[in-house]
Parts: sequence; structure tokens; C-alpha cells
Amino acid sequence: MSSPNPQNISQPKKRIIFMDSTLRDGEQAPGAAMTHAQKLEIAQKLAEMGVDVIEAGFAASSPEDWCSVREIAEKVASEKTKICALARCNPKDIQSAATAIAPAISKNAGRIHVFVATSDKHIATKLGKTRAEVLEMIDKGVRYARGFCKDIEFSAEDAFNSDRAFLAECVKTAVEAGATTINLPDTIGEAVHFQYYEFIKEIIARANVSKEIVFSVHCHNDKGLATANSLFGLSAGACQAECCMNGIGERAGNAALEEIAMAIQSSPNVYPFEFQLDTHKIKEVSELVEKYTGFRVPNCKPIVGKTAYSHGSGIHQDGVIKAWETGVSCIYGAVNPKEAGYTEQIVITRHSGIRAAAYILKQQGIIATPEQARHVLDMAKTSGKKIISPAMMKAIYEQQYLKTKYPQKIVSNMPYSRVTTKLQAMREHTKS
Ligand code: KIV
Ligand code: ZN
Repeated sequence: MSSPNPQNISQPKKRIIFMDSTLRDGEQAPGAAMTHAQKLEIAQKLAEMGVDVIEAGFAASSPEDWCSVREIAEKVASEKTKICALARCNPKDIQSAATAIAPAISKNAGRIHVFVATSDKHIATKLGKTRAEVLEMIDKGVRYARGFCKDIEFSAEDAFNSDRAFLAECVKTAVEAGATTINLPDTIGEAVHFQYYEFIKEIIARANVSKEIVFSVHCHNDKGLATANSLFGLSAGACQAECCMNGIGERAGNAALEEIAMAIQSSPNVYPFEFQLDTHKIKEVSELVEKYTGFRVPNCKPIVGKTAYSHGSGIHQDGVIKAWETGVSCIYGAVNPKEAGYTEQIVITRHSGIRAAAYILKQQGIIATPEQARHVLDMAKTSGKKIISPAMMKAIYEQQYLKTKYPQKIVSNMPYSRVTTKLQAMREHTKS
């Protein structure tokens, strides 16, 4: 196997096209269905983020889907962002896709995405057809779609499990019929990274089509490898990544847009690629998709998890705060949170240390000595809380620490605001 890591930053960067399928493959996850208005809002945010192609839906699947694709095509398609609709390789589906994205086509910003299964298993069991019939379907379907739109993507469903010589023939047939993008999905999430790399390389070589044709990766996450596989596929010669925000999708989901983008951006020596996405908008789009789908992002999810940039343990906190003091960021963490719209956080937990306690107290306007910080932290840890908020640290300092040190000066049962005022005066006294 030749190296999937080019390690060569002198070569010109390869432009990666991001095709986001949150509104189609993502929405296929049971329970992820969104309303028409929600889908439009997400499409607008995806376009603002710089997604190249938005797969807005499977127009023929229901009148609601058709309407939703249509409105997105009307309102979101632009020179920068194409709107795409999925269709099986049959005239009815293709016509439905074409009419739904007609407003985008008229702006030269539409794409029809036709697909058919190419693995023997799918051809026999699902389609009940022969390989020859599948080739005919591809030829006819792509030609028909091409009559509506110049930009045609062909996907070979279950490509990874297809006979490679036959798959290459399918690719050639699609290209000869007018397809401009060829997508080679790992539909069932079966491949591991180096297999997918070899697969993409082999099919590109066997098909031997014009360099103008864009090859695309589309990986499902059944083994937790969708992002890695997508990156290996891009390193093997593909130029388009199909993905979904927050990695949502059928079964265990699709490759996560934010993971692919940030892996590329934070490893420029490994991936000499560029893209038009503004990654700073990732947080906003991720939160919107979480809210509208109701699919909670796990706290530890890479890039968009709530704790992905939080430090709770004393050793890490000590290093991170020392680094911040010297203007260095991310000494514990491979991705710069700011690039994805987030900030690095110090969170007080049972595992935290004195430097973090002093840091949090300082943020609350309290300059604590190491001894005071230790005292507050020790008391905070006895609270049994998993996370101790900055406000709680402050309250512990004010109500308990000073109370322990200066019991005679505390008026018990005093309303909190008056206690705080009193303690403020005492703090001044402590400082002097
Ligand atoms: O996973 C898959 O094969 C698909 C195709 C329809 C592109 O989603
Ligand atoms: Zn898929």
C-alpha cells in the first residue's frame, strides 16, 4: 500500500468539496425528522458556513420532502452553494428531483443525485435484477437526469461490497451518460480505513475516466470509522466528502462534517487540502441540528461535544493555565477550539487542583492565596457535586471560608445580599 499520508506541504493544495447530507441521509435516522421551517433554517446556516453542496432531501419520498427541497432550492441556492436532490435511477424519482430543484438549476446551482445498488447482494436481493440490467438503469437514469441538469452525481450504493471490475464498469457507464461526480459509498459501514483507501484508489484507476470527474467518499459509522475512512478516501484521490453535521444518519450515522473539516484543518502536513468552509460557524450549526433533531450530542463527541475543550483534572488544569499565562493555547488538545467556534474551559470537579481553584476564584473577582484556594477547593469537593460552578466556588469562599476564619464577624441568617456586602468589606480587610 502506498502512503496515505502525503507529508508533502509543498504540493498545491487539493480543493475538497463538502457535500452535506444532514437534511437527507442525516434525517433518515429514525426520530430525526425536522419540520419544513427547521430544514430551511439549517440549510441557510449550512450555506452561511460555506458548504459547497447541500443535499436537501429525497424529493420523491413524500410531498412534504418535495416542498422542502423546493423551498431550499428557491431560497438557498447560490454561486457558492449548490442544492441537490436524491433520486433512484427511475424517471419518476428523477423528474421529482428535477422539478424540486428547478429554481437552483436555473441559477446554475442545482444537482441531481441518482443512485442504484451495485453489489451482487443488493442487485439480487433488493433489486431482483442482473448486472446487465443495472448497467442499463445507470445509463438511462443518468442520461435522463442530464436532460434536466448539467451537474449529475451518480452513487453506486453498497459500492464497497461490489465486484471491483463491475463497479468500474458502472462508473464508466455513468460518466459516459453524463455524470460529473461519482460517489463510492461504504453504505453499510463495513470498511476499515486502509481497505477504503485501497478501494478508492483501485476504482479511480480501473475506471480511468477524465480528470474532470470528481470522486466522492460517503462513509457510514457502524464501526466508528466513518471519519477516518473519509479522510483515507480523500487521501486516495477523492475530492468530495459527503457527511452530516454531528455525524447523524442511518444506524450509527454518517461521517461528521465537523470532524472531517477540523481533522484536515488541524493536520495540514498530513492533509494538503483546502476548502471553503468557515469552521468558526461549526458550533452554531451543530447546536441548531441538535436542537431541531432532538439528537443530543454526547459530551465527549470530538469537535462539538460539550466537554470537548474542557479540562477537569488538576494536572491538565495546571499545565493549561500556565500555558495561557504565557500566551500559549491547546497544550492539552489537538484542535484549536476557537477555529470551531468554541473556547477552552477550566471546570472544577473532584479531580481539580489548586491552580484551577485560584483561577476560577480570580474570574469571580477573588484573589485567593494558594492556601485559601486549597481550602475552598477542599470544601467544594465535599459537596458531592460532579461539577462545581464558578458561582458556587465564590459562595463557598464567601460563606464558608471567611466564616471559618472570622466566625465572630458573620451575622447568621442575614439575607445573602447583605452577607455578600458584609463579606466584601471583610475581603478588603483581609487584603489589607
Ligand atoms: O449510504 C449510501 O449508500 C447512500 C446513497 C444513497 C448515496 O446514502
Ligand atoms: Zn448513506
